[in-house]
Amino acid sequence: MKNVTVVGLGKIGLPLAAIFANCGHLHVYGADINQTVVDKVNQGISHVDNEPGLDELIAKAYESKTLEATVNTSEAVSKSEVVVVIVPVLTKENGATNYQYIDSAVEDIARGIKKGTLVSFETTLPAGDTRNRFGRTIEKISGLKMGVDFFLSYSPERVYSNRIIKDLSAYPKVVSGLNPKSLELAADFYQKGLNCDILPVSSLEAAEFTKVAECVYRDVNIALANELAMYASKLDIDIMEVIKAANSEPYSNIHLPGVGVGGHCIPVYPYFFINNGLDEGLTTLSRRINDDMAKYAVGMAEKNLGSLRNKRVLILGLSFRGNVKEPTKSSTLLLIDELKEKGAAVYVDDPLFEAGEISKYGVVPFSKQHAEEIELIILQAYHDEYKNMDFSAYKNCSLVLDGRNVLDKEAIIKQGIHYVGIGVK
Ligand SMILES: NC(=O)c1ccc[n+]([C@@H]2O[C@H](COP(=O)([O-])OP(=O)(O)OC[C@H]3O[C@@H](n4cnc5c(N)ncnc54)[C@H](O)[C@@H]3O)[C@@H](O)[C@H]2O)c1
Repeated sequence: MKNVTVVGLGKIGLPLAAIFANCGHLHVYGADINQTVVDKVNQGISHVDNEPGLDELIAKAYESKTLEATVNTSEAVSKSEVVVVIVPVLTKENGATNYQYIDSAVEDIARGIKKGTLVSFETTLPAGDTRNRFGRTIEKISGLKMGVDFFLSYSPERVYSNRIIKDLSAYPKVVSGLNPKSLELAADFYQKGLNCDILPVSSLEAAEFTKVAECVYRDVNIALANELAMYASKLDIDIMEVIKAANSEPYSNIHLPGVGVGGHCIPVYPYFFINNGLDEGLTTLSRRINDDMAKYAVGMAEKNLGSLRNKRVLILGLSFRGNVKEPTKSSTLLLIDELKEKGAAVYVDDPLFEAGEISKYGVVPFSKQHAEEIELIILQAYHDEYKNMDFSAYKNCSLVLDGRNVLDKEAIIKQGIHYVGIGVK
C-alpha cells in the first residue's frame, strides 16, 4: 500500500482523502491545523455537512483504518510517497492574494519531504505558483531539487459542493507535471486513487490557468445574463422567457441572471488574472456587474416601495447558494450592506445556520414570530426549504423580490403581494 498525505481536510480535502482511503490501495494521512477536525476524523466522523456519500466513506475508512488524521503535517509527509495539497489561497478585501495558510502548509511539507515524493497541488492558484513559489520553497527548505529529488504536479479541483463525491469520479482529472516523470507519477496516482479519466495538459501553468479560466467563464457569462436581464426589465420583457427561447439554438448558452455571485471560487479567482496583468476588460467588468447586482436589487425594491428607511426586510438564505452551508462572499452580505445604508431593519433566515451564526452579521436571525413584521422579502439562496413556501403568514409584506427567478409568482400574487424577479415582472 502506498502512503499519501492530504494536506487540508476542508470541504474538498476531506472528500478527497475519504475517496483515496477507500480506493483499496492507499493509506491516507489527513493533515490539518484544526485539532477539532483532526479529532473528528479520527473518530470516524465527517465535519463537512451536506455532502452526499461522505459520512459513509469516512465511516468505512475508519473501519478499515485507512484514514488517519494528524496536526503534524511534516511527520505525515515524511512517511508518504505522495502529498496532495488542498489548503486555500484567499483574497484580501482589496482583492490582493493572501498566501498565509498555504505558505505555512508548504513549509511544513518541505520540512518532512523525502526523496522520490510526488507533491501535487490542487488548490486554485495564479499561473506559475506551483513551480515558482511552492516548488522553490520546498527546494530551499528541504535541500532537494524539484524534478530530480522530488516531483511536482498541479491538478485543479473543479468539483461542486454538494456533489463532490460524484464529481470526483465523473469529471476528467486535468493533470500536469513539472517534467514527464512528474506527470507520469501524478496521472498514475489519480487514475488509481479516483478511478477517473485523466486529461493531461502540457505544463503546470496551463493546468493552473485552466481552473481560473473556468471561473472567469462562469463569472463573465453570469454578468452577461445580468446585463441582459437589467436591459430586458427596462423594456418590460421577461428575460426568463427570452433565455428559454434563445437557448433553443445550440450555440446559445445564456446563463441565469441573479442577485449576485458568491462563494469562494467565482467571485475570488478572477482576481488571480486581474492582479496579474489582465487588469482591463471583460473579467474586471464582469466582477463589477455581478457585485453591483445587490445594489440593483435594492434599487428595484425602492422603486416599488419607496424609501426603505425603517422598513423590515427579510433576506432568505445566508449561504451563497441553495443547499450549501457556506456564507463566504455570499450576495446576502452585499444585500445587508445596501439595505442598512438605506436605513432598513434586516432579518435573515437560513435553515442551515444557527441563530448565533446569523446574528454575527449584524442582522436579526429570523424566526416565525417575526413573519407579520416583514414588509419586503428578498430571496437570495434557494434552499429546498423555500420551495413551495407559504407566504400567507407575511400579512404586512408588500413585495417579494425573487433574486433567483425561481419562486411561484402566482402563489405570491394570490396573497396580495407584489412580485418582481431579476429581469422578470
Ligand atoms: N469549496 C469549493 O466548493 C471548492 C470547489 C472547487 C475547488 N476548491 C478548491 O479547494 C481549495 C480548498 O477549499 P475548501 O473549500 O476545502 O477549503 P476549507 O476552508 O473548507 O478547508 C481548508 C482546510 O485547510 C486547513 N488548513 C489551513 N491552513 C493549513 C495548514 N497550514 N496546514 C494544514 N491544513 C491547513 C483548514 O484548517 C481547513 O480545514 C480552495 O482553495 C479551492 O481552490 C474549492
